Amino acid sequence: MTTNNDRLAFASDTAREAGALALKYFGDLGSLTVRSKGVQNMATEADVNTETIIRDAITKRYPDDGFLGEESSDSFAISDVPGTWIVDPIDGTQPFVCGMRTWCISIAYYSHGKVEVGVIYDPSNDEMFAAVRGQGATMNGKPIQVADVSNLGEGLVSVGYSTRVTPEDTLGPLGRLLQANGMYHRNGSGALSLAYVAAGRLIGYFEPHMCAWDLAAGELLVREAGGRSNDCLPNDQALVDGSLVIAAADGVYDELEAIVDSKT
Ligand code: IPD
Ligand code: CA
Ligand code: CA
Repeated sequence: MTTNNDRLAFASDTAREAGALALKYFGDLGSLTVRSKGVQNMATEADVNTETIIRDAITKRYPDDGFLGEESSDSFAISDVPGTWIVDPIDGTQPFVCGMRTWCISIAYYSHGKVEVGVIYDPSNDEMFAAVRGQGATMNGKPIQVADVSNLGEGLVSVGYSTRVTPEDTLGPLGRLLQANGMYHRNGSGALSLAYVAAGRLIGYFEPHMCAWDLAAGELLVREAGGRSNDCLPNDQALVDGSLVIAAADGVYDELEAIVDSKT
């Protein structure tokens, strides 16, 4: 019988292999063709080919499972499968194409309404963030925990934005964060930022809308590292729709949630 620990080992190995390929492309950025998928949304052959090797590995090892990858999401349909692998081959494509190293590979395994396994791999720093539901979170095999903080003045909150929402959806919460003595941060990779919340480097993250492949592994990491998040994937439809994401260290979650939710 396949266990979630088997899946974790597989996801980590696959993320490493994918990371090595993406890193090769990163080392020769001048030869990449950047294709626009919309305003501030791009993809390169690095994104597509990295997703392909992850997808091929999953299909070979777990042929009965479903696959939701960002670069092939148009062909995804919710179906009655034992589990679904949710993959962002390169999260942080914008920094990637600009020669900045804040990008990562995100792989999650989702089954019966829950994310069971999540890995986020940062090839530039060789940092592997990993979690199995109910078993805690690790970075390169060592346990990690969210920051021990009690108010938003004690650290950095990363703020994500995409043109899937309006500027006002972000500016209200951002203003309230600053009024609460908080400080914002953005590195261009929502998935890596969620891993940093899990590791206690950032104290929180919010974004008005993320897609399932941006959030699945990171949300599990934050929860397994002792943090809290809103219910980002409450049902299978959320795989298609995506969600608001609020994730933070336990001690500041309520404060951050009030800031994001406030209508005033
Ligand atoms: C994006 C990044 C960004 C976040 C966006 C995502 P991509 O993913 O995670 O930080 O704010 O919502 O779409 O395009 O780099 O894979
Ligand atoms: Ca992404
Ligand atoms: Ca991506």
